[in-house]
Amino acid sequence: MIILGIETSCDETSAAIIKNGKKILSNVTATSADMHAKTGGIIPEQAAREQIKSIIPVIETAIHDSQLTINEIDAIAVTYGPGLIGSLLVGVETAKTLSFVWNKPLVPVNHLVGHIYANWLETPDRAVQEPTLPAIALVVSGGHTDLVLLKNHGKLVWLGGTRDDAAGEAFDKTARLLKLPRPDGPSLASAAAMFNPSEKKLNIKLPRPMLDQNNYDFSFSGLKAAVLREYELLENKNEINDNSVNELAYEVQEAITDCLVEKTMRALKEHRMTTLLVAGGVAANSRLREKFNLQIANCKLQINLHIPPPKLCTDNPTFIAAAAEFNHKPVPWQEIAANPSLTIDSTV
Ligand code: KG4
Ligand code: ZN
Repeated sequence: MIILGIETSCDETSAAIIKNGKKILSNVTATSADMHAKTGGIIPEQAAREQIKSIIPVIETAIHDSQLTINEIDAIAVTYGPGLIGSLLVGVETAKTLSFVWNKPLVPVNHLVGHIYANWLETPDRAVQEPTLPAIALVVSGGHTDLVLLKNHGKLVWLGGTRDDAAGEAFDKTARLLKLPRPDGPSLASAAAMFNPSEKKLNIKLPRPMLDQNNYDFSFSGLKAAVLREYELLENKNEINDNSVNELAYEVQEAITDCLVEKTMRALKEHRMTTLLVAGGVAANSRLREKFNLQIANCKLQINLHIPPPKLCTDNPTFIAAAAEFNHKPVPWQEIAANPSLTIDSTV
């Protein structure tokens, strides 16, 4: 199938055309990030206003870039949640209108489930070995951290998730505490990469919350307080400098990634799964990718690890269209409504 995917769950407005859930024919994003950088964060209403202006040009460009005509598009896929309500509405209402006017099936896609399908996408430099199901999937984004058992397309069992802050949120908030430049998560990762534990002894030790518990849950909000305490101790000793900040960033990243990797490995073992799908913006983190590769190489199980290329991990419309290919359940446009608080295992 040829599917037009529309994604507007946060501040970006994006559309892509995907063939057979794998081949990216076009991928277009308009962002108002510069505007939000000036205000120090996203103002939801302003984001939605910008999205109203850019949604039609973005879709037009996606169709143009694909070198296809509207007639050749088989279906439309749209993120209906979770996300910012105003932003979601722009994508959902546009998709509904196009479905009606063009007379094409419309598939509502859960953004969190969508992330997982970035693992099916090919890029010019990456042919994909198609993941086999069942699988364990770890979805780590800015607002969500979920560990799930994907029995088959559309059959998902939630195993656990964060009790408070999401993994991406922990990266972002601690980056701000350390006064690192934006974008927060990637800049914390860059600072962490500057610290080399083989050259210098690590003096700071942060907690690995909930690792001792026999469940698949995470808790990252305590890290903020721990980082703040360490930062203030350094400040009192007049020891805030690039080296000490890099060291703190390194330990934050180690703490978050240790928890994610350890619990995911436990889930793989306990459920006897041989496929692991990692997804979401935090899956772009090099250290997380490295740790999964190392753990899987060292464990006795034969596990097929799938992590999308970094640029497909973060929000984009390609995985929304891919998800609709493998979960092709069109819904009459009149019955689709944006749902800002959708969860990964939601069935509505
Ligand atoms: O999935 P995503 O693009 O958007 C949401 O659906 O939330 O995830 C965004 C999150 C942000 O918290 C961002 O800081 C984090 O992913 N992120 C990273 C990296 N790249 C993006 N965190 C750590 N290291 C990275 N390289
Ligand atoms: Zn996302």
